[in-house]
Amino acid sequence: MSDQQQNQLWGGRFSESTDAFVQEFTASVAFDRRMYRQDIQGSMAHATMLAEAGVLTDDERDAIHQGLKEIRAEIEAGDFQWSVALEDVHMNIEARLTDKIGITGKKLHTGRSRNDQVATDIRLWLRDEIDLIDGELTRLMTGLLDQAEREAATIMPGFTHLQTAQPVTFGHHLLAWFEMLKRDRERLLDCRKRVNRLPLGAAALAGTTYPIQRERTRELLGFDAVCENSLDAVSDRDFAIEFCALAALCVTHLSRISEELVLWTSAQFNFIDLPDRFCTGSSIMPQKKNPDVPELVRGKTGRVNGHLISLLTLMKSQPLAYNKDNQEDKEPLFDAVDTLAGCLRAFADMIPAIEPNREVMREAARRGFATATDLADYLVRAGVAFRDAHEIVGKAVAYGVEKKKDLSEMSLSELRQFSDQIDDDVFEVLTLEGSVSARNHVGGTAPDQVRAAVARGREVVNA
Ligand code: ARG
Repeated sequence: MSDQQQNQLWGGRFSESTDAFVQEFTASVAFDRRMYRQDIQGSMAHATMLAEAGVLTDDERDAIHQGLKEIRAEIEAGDFQWSVALEDVHMNIEARLTDKIGITGKKLHTGRSRNDQVATDIRLWLRDEIDLIDGELTRLMTGLLDQAEREAATIMPGFTHLQTAQPVTFGHHLLAWFEMLKRDRERLLDCRKRVNRLPLGAAALAGTTYPIQRERTRELLGFDAVCENSLDAVSDRDFAIEFCALAALCVTHLSRISEELVLWTSAQFNFIDLPDRFCTGSSIMPQKKNPDVPELVRGKTGRVNGHLISLLTLMKSQPLAYNKDNQEDKEPLFDAVDTLAGCLRAFADMIPAIEPNREVMREAARRGFATATDLADYLVRAGVAFRDAHEIVGKAVAYGVEKKKDLSEMSLSELRQFSDQIDDDVFEVLTLEGSVSARNHVGGTAPDQVRAAVARGREVVNA
């Protein structure tokens, strides 16, 4: 790149060319070229608006549109020469346009600055990515609903403190994951509303003297509204921070699910099998089948959480309006998007393929006195105060630990040692099925409630 070419976009003011290292150091084209489609989309809308406003002729607009379409095809064919000397995606495309169509190419930037241009590009780009992520997220949510429906009556132990607490249905557990993701999706769609606003028209920071029609550009680009203040329009990156925040929380949820999958595939739990295609072996231990996908998703949480902190720190104390600092917004945002999208895709593929070991889960629930609360509730219904019932059942459990017997395995006379309020109808509540079916209210673990929750979940996902 000659010095002359290098300085063509701002060369008037400069008497020497940029230091070679500074040129490399300040360039962003290596990563922001990823937004080339949105950059061209924004420029085409800007040119359309300028022509309608009488700032460009219709012929000039058509030449710009044609040139930009050809450039897009060159980029997609891998024929485009990206130049670090031209710093970023915006100047690379604009310089190429001028190469192709001459002086008219230089008119495209009328009434615009890279400051409002880049803010527009990121918003267009993120909007597209949010829509793709929403597709993966709803695919995963649908997979959970399908599994939950299948496993509505499958019994497993529910845990607190990772100790067996009460029996639950596997479907109910899957729907707890669904709820986390349902909130993530609410946040994603809410974030999209603030992403979907148009900065173009703010120009460098103060607006422009040309008779631009921002409402028209907004309409052409499908934004919901224009950014109301030009200083804020070029400096606002809240939407990127919001995205990283929801991404961090969503990946954090996936890490919790991952942790359970890792535990459950272990020989010690053996609650589920993951198909081989989501696992790898060990190069030294022939018996190993490692749950790589959930482990890796668990591990990726750290970088997304890190990107949130990067962006918050990037914006902290930044004075209005645009500052070059903001060029640092892209890599954290891009990586947060890619990481979240990848994790969701892997999960959406994997969740439907989980194979529960129903007998093992059931057996684990049977051990561990999971129906102790049911026995206490039974005594309360017979007129015993809850605290006394708690004490009685505690003694029965201590006896069971000593005799290696679950409550449901004790005879009526064994149970009656602890309370004469116990009768032979007690065995209905001591069964696992009796225990889960009794929790039959909205949000409870009963199979009927799981099925009803699946139906409500489908309405949410398909809305
Ligand atoms: N590459 C820049 C960025 O990513 C584009 C805007 C540059 N504006 C400027 N006045 N230097 O933010």
